[in-house]
Amino acid sequence: MKTVMVMLSAALVAVFAPAAQAQQGDQVAAAAKNTPVTQGQPPAKEQTPVKPVNPFNRLMQDKSTFNPPPPEDGIHDPGNEGTFLLQPPREAFGAFVKSNFGNRVDWVKTLDEGKINPRWDRLDPKAEPDVLDLNIVRVVRGSMPDVLYPHAPHTKWLTCENCHDAIFVPEAGKNQISMAAILMGEKCGVCHGKVAFPVTECRKCHSLKKEAVSKN
Ligand code: HEC
Ligand code: HEC
Ligand code: HEC
Repeated sequence: MKTVMVMLSAALVAVFAPAAQAQQGDQVAAAAKNTPVTQGQPPAKEQTPVKPVNPFNRLMQDKSTFNPPPPEDGIHDPGNEGTFLLQPPREAFGAFVKSNFGNRVDWVKTLDEGKINPRWDRLDPKAEPDVLDLNIVRVVRGSMPDVLYPHAPHTKWLTCENCHDAIFVPEAGKNQISMAAILMGEKCGVCHGKVAFPVTECRKCHSLKKEAVSKN
């Protein structure tokens, strides 16, 4: 367990190191609160907020900066007229089920409650997903709760080919999965932290109490 935690913290350091290097001393605290730092004098009250040092890291952003409109998101070109035609995410997400992570939408509940009805097939509006209701339990060594991988919420969005066989061989227990690999963007990390809920939501994956499994 000790080596495992060392590995895990090494991976976390690797992931968070660029942000830590960019922010020294008071700037770390100031950036977290999104207030400007001025050397040698008290910070002025009315100033435009400093852009977060690491805008890619959503965890370090102030709440008011989540889901900015396309011309301000640093991804779309504000010099292009088309950017202004895009619906701002805050308006688009308004009726969706909220969450406290990622882009602040609980996409699983939003889909289950019928708040969105994405087309399964680009050309065939009637095509339905082939939902597979199969849970896979991955027993975790150490004190972390075990992982329950549910096929159902995945296959409502994804085809089998999104994962099999390029990311996972379809056989329970056949794949070597580790937290280090996930943090490096492999295995579950191919999607989680990029297009699905972030890896910081430990309990969403580590959802099984040890006792619950040992009874089986
Ligand atoms: C998001 C990724 C993902 C998608 C999409 C996905 N699977 Fe899987 N599948 C997994 C993982 C992870 C495992 C467990 C592998 C392990 O434990 O090593 C698994 C295991 C399996 C297994 C083995 C079950 C067992 O008891 O041995 C089968 C069969 C399977 N998947 C079929 C499918 C089918 C059919 C689809 C499409 C309807 C599908 N999967 C879609 C990730 C996925
Ligand atoms: C996207 C799903 C997911 C999230 C989120 C997640 N884990 Fe994991 N974690 C896994 C899987 C899958 C394994 C591998 C289990 C196995 O051995 O089969 C794992 C394994 C582990 C292990 C065992 C040692 C290792 O490195 O494999 C530890 C400890 C761990 N996770 C801690 C965490 C902590 C702490 C967090 C939150 C910061 C977290 N996990 C978030 C899926 C996840
Ligand atoms: C190919 C992309 C992909 C891979 C690989 C993947 N996931 Fe997911 N996962 C998603 C998407 C998309 C969702 C639904 C959107 C969301 O919850 O952010 C999801 C949802 C989930 C949920 C449901 C959360 C809820 O709210 O009910 C769990 C649990 C989960 N994933 C765990 C895992 C674990 C564990 C692995 C690795 C064994 C994994 N996922 C691999 C894309 C993926």
